[in-house]
Amino acid sequence: KKILVIHGPNLNFLGIREKGVYGEMSFNDLNEYLLKTGEEMGLSLEIFQSNSEGALIDRLQQAYFDGVDGIIINPGAYTHYSYALRDAISSTNIPTVEVHLSNIHKREEFRHSSVTAPVCIGQIAGFGAYSYILGMHALNMKLNEK
Ligand code: DQA
Repeated sequence: KKILVIHGPNLNFLGIREKGVYGEMSFNDLNEYLLKTGEEMGLSLEIFQSNSEGALIDRLQQAYFDGVDGIIINPGAYTHYSYALRDAISSTNIPTVEVHLSNIHKREEFRHSSVTAPVCIGQIAGFGAYSYILGMHALNMKLNEK
């Protein structure tokens, strides 16, 4: 199965930004961990990061043409207000799981709502890097149902 992992804005600063919230793991280490786990699960993983809304939308649209089977997305702060990103996720018709490192529901009020989660299978938040791993397992199980 072809899985695309998308990291939104500021996630390339992992290990540098707000370590108390997001942990010490660097962005490179996170990606290596995901690639290794994907390989163990027999998934072919591609990873993409951008700080720009348009580039994220372009990549989602590209996934449609590439025949990607499933998407794991951490939309970063776009989660809370990007209707354009939401429409892009919805447009691909590719099963998508939303993940967050932090538990957005116990943080600032503006992080409690996600405009992107309603067009995803579900959301996993609060488990740090494990959120991505749990997301990969959940997505894999869903894809194998068919
Ligand atoms: C985040 C949560 C968002 O609210 C925040 O803007 C991020 C990271 C997370 O993974 O916990 O950039 O998506």
